[in-house]
Parts: sequence; structure tokens; C-alpha cells
Amino acid sequence: MTQPDRQDTPTQQAGKTSGQSAVTLTHQVLPEDANPAGNVHGGVILKLIDTAAGVVAMRHVRGWAVTASIDRMDFLKPVYVGELVTLKASLNMVGHTSMEIGVRVEAENLLTGEVRHTNSAYLTFVALDEHGCPRPAPPLVLEGEVAERRHRQALRRRELRRQAIAEERRG
Ligand SMILES: CC(C)(COP(=O)(O)OP(=O)(O)OC[C@H]1O[C@@H](n2cnc3c(N)ncnc32)[C@H](O)[C@@H]1OP(=O)(O)O)[C@@H](O)C(=O)NCCC(=O)NCCS
Repeated sequence: MTQPDRQDTPTQQAGKTSGQSAVTLTHQVLPEDANPAGNVHGGVILKLIDTAAGVVAMRHVRGWAVTASIDRMDFLKPVYVGELVTLKASLNMVGHTSMEIGVRVEAENLLTGEVRHTNSAYLTFVALDEHGCPRPAPPLVLEGEVAERRHRQALRRRELRRQAIAEERRG
């Protein structure tokens, strides 16, 4: 994993950039991660995604954070035993207590060097206080065009999520 910036302190509530919490996590796929045909289980990838996003959330809030939701996720390409899975996770948007984190997953064939984009996922984490209740997260400082575009797209996804939840509750 990459190391956090040193100016990050546990009590800081000032704005932070996504670069201060972004993480790159790697995992070599082992036989125990896969089915008998050598394809990695979807749940293994999902756990890695959740782990990478959780690290980003905790780095941003410097406290506990839980997964509130994971958006629809498609497995675009298979991943095989022996390959190196790389997950790049970073913050797209911070609400009041919630945060949207985007994770891009790539698989590398270590013998040939071929790299494939296998998944992208968006997760919402909620910062928690010591009683397990939602607590405000530090604001996200948008630095550069990429951060602004990701933020705009995340706001649209949040709206769609809210609509879907409201519709579900209405039955
Ligand atoms: C996530 C959780 C803390 C939210 O608690 P809550 O009492 O519903 O909190 P609130 O209604 O005050 O919402 C808090 C924030 O979470 C967001 N949120 C709540 N449910 C959400 C969902 N399903 N998807 C996306 N965001 C959600 C709200 O929009 C709000 O965001 P904001 O503060 O930025 O505006 C609570 O549902 C929980 O503890 N869930 C279990 C988490 C867990 O165990 N995860 C591990 C995987 S099983």
C-alpha cells in the first residue's frame, strides 16, 4: 500500500485532497482464491475492493468508517490464478458523514505483462464516532480537473442512489 501524507493528523477536520487518502493495493491470486478452473471467485475481488475503499475512508476521516453500499459491479474480464490484482482506490465525493470511493481493478499476467481492466466499483462509506453513530467527515478539497469531474459524476450517482432507496421504501 502507498503511505499517507505526514501532515495527516487524527483530529484534523480541515479539508483534505483525495491524494491524501488514495491507496494502491496489490494481491497475487492464489489457488485458494479460485475455482477449480483457475478463475478467481467474484467474492474475493469484492473483498479486496471493500478493503481498499475502507482504507481510503479511514485515512480520510482518521477514524472508523463502514460500508453503507456498493453500487452495481460488473466483472468485465476473468482473473486467473497467479495473476497480480492491482486496486487503485480514491475519494470522489464527501457528503456530510458519507463518502463515495471509486476503485479500479486491473489484473496483470506476470508472465506476459498483459494488463486488463477487470472491474470498477463505487462504494459509499459512512464515518462513525466512538458510539457507532455517523459523524461528519472532513470536507474534500477538489484539486484539478480530474477531481472536479469525478466529484460531479459522484454527485449524480448519489442522487440516483437516493432515488432508488426512496422508490424501494415506497414499494
Ligand atoms: C451505514 C449506516 C451507519 C448509516 O446509518 P443511518 O442511521 O442510516 O445514517 P443516516 O440516515 O444518518 O445517513 C448517514 C449517511 O449515510 C448515507 N447513507 C445511508 N444509507 C446509505 C446507503 N444505503 N447508500 C448510500 N448512502 C447511505 C446517508 O445519505 C447519509 O449521508 P450524508 O451524511 O453524507 O448526507 C448504518 O446503516 C449501518 O451501520 N449499516 C451497517 C454497516 C455495516 O455493517 N457495513 C458492513 C457491511 S455488512
